[in-house]
Amino acid sequence: MHDIVILGGGPGGYLAAERAGARGKSVLLIEKEEVLGGICLNHGCIPTKSLLHSAKLYRHGKEGAQFGVHFENARYDLKAAMQWKRQAVEKLVKGVDFLMKKYNVEVVQGEGRMVDRQTLAVGDETYQGEHIIISTGSRPAMPPIPGIDSDAVVTSRDILQIQELPKKIVIIGGGVIGMEFASYFACLEVEVHVVEMLEEIIPVMDPALARVMRKEMPEVDFHLGARVENISGKKVTYSKDGKSATLKGDMILMATGRIPNTDGLGFREAGMDIGKQGIRVNEQMQTNLPGVYAVGDVTGKSMLAHTAYRMGEVAVNDICGTRDRMRYHAIPWVVYSLPEAAGCGYTEQEAAEAGMEIKTASVPMRINGRFLAEYGNIGGVCTVVVDAESDRLIGVHMVGGGCSELIFGAAAMIEAELRVRDIREIVFPHPTVSEIIRDALWEL
Ligand code: NAI
Repeated sequence: MHDIVILGGGPGGYLAAERAGARGKSVLLIEKEEVLGGICLNHGCIPTKSLLHSAKLYRHGKEGAQFGVHFENARYDLKAAMQWKRQAVEKLVKGVDFLMKKYNVEVVQGEGRMVDRQTLAVGDETYQGEHIIISTGSRPAMPPIPGIDSDAVVTSRDILQIQELPKKIVIIGGGVIGMEFASYFACLEVEVHVVEMLEEIIPVMDPALARVMRKEMPEVDFHLGARVENISGKKVTYSKDGKSATLKGDMILMATGRIPNTDGLGFREAGMDIGKQGIRVNEQMQTNLPGVYAVGDVTGKSMLAHTAYRMGEVAVNDICGTRDRMRYHAIPWVVYSLPEAAGCGYTEQEAAEAGMEIKTASVPMRINGRFLAEYGNIGGVCTVVVDAESDRLIGVHMVGGGCSELIFGAAAMIEAELRVRDIREIVFPHPTVSEIIRDALWEL
């Protein structure tokens, strides 16, 4: 019997394996794909960042003249971009393999399922663990739209393998995935239409900032408050304000959310408590079955790789007898579009809904020296939210170049429960975009 058997080798699973192995636990990790790393490494976070970077480079090249640099024959080579993406993924997968060996994690390739609270099976083989960690991830949600099985429809996974750029793409869903791909294709001069059911893009975002983001992406056509009625070949028909309209694209991307992988894996039969959102867990990532933990997207709590990492650590700490607790209030999120967007903690609207008394300030990113010098051809904004009673920073939300790399600073301040007066004593390096947070706090 192993100390821990883990089902699913994505960020939640492989990091838990690594941490547990490092603490001397005997760990067995089951992964159905031929490679470790899960969606994030193989079909999500990493390949999309690689492609987005190439598209942004192309766009910067085209716009270089305003910075005094002329690229006469800028050309986008999709094949080469895909090759770079593949190499980056391969290197990182090798890195995960190396870590598994380093920490003596036994890896089994095959589709696992749960037999009971201490047993997982792969084919006829069974594996027992004193503890089990479930990290089976999620998959794209495919809403019941008539015609969704059209050949023109692709998922966020399929689209990473295209051989040719479309001339026109219709993206259904203006969430995180939708906006990252909208940005990618818009940078490459593809005609992009985003059809979003809600009145604003990116549900996690402060709507005022989402508006700024749309304004800074004038090359994308947004169809908001639009309900897709059906897909017929390359045509998407939607209704908006009681009227029906049709868009035609060479490609139609479904980006309408993800659903946890909880079915057909023996979880329910073993007595696991599964809600509408995913596997139910407590603050230690324990499920209702003694000794069984669930981490990452399968819990449906916060479908982000970094949340899965932290959940994996909490589960391993609990197994090893180290006190720990999963907290969700300071988890940053990032959209790696052009312009980027990032946030952490309460938005103004969420704080108001929670009945909190707050103070807020918003400043345009262009007041920041480094931002203006380097990213200033596209605008942005930074909003801070402070709890009026305690003077603590509870939210930072941003649109604009550089914000993906600096949002962790906001997360650290929120997690450490710093007050505005504490943050005012921190020296920020100048000139950096990070100073925008300090400047916004001085506006309060
Ligand atoms: P999402 O929940 O962010 O957005 C889905 C959007 O689709 C919503 O705005 C929703 O209103 C809309 N929608 C749903 N059904 C629709 C319909 N029938 N017609 C039109 N619009 C419809 O989900 P998304 O973008 O698919 O991403 C899935 C998960 O992956 C998210 O939890 C996200 O956080 C995560 N992710 C994170 C990334 C990052 O951290 N940068 C990158 C990619 C994904």
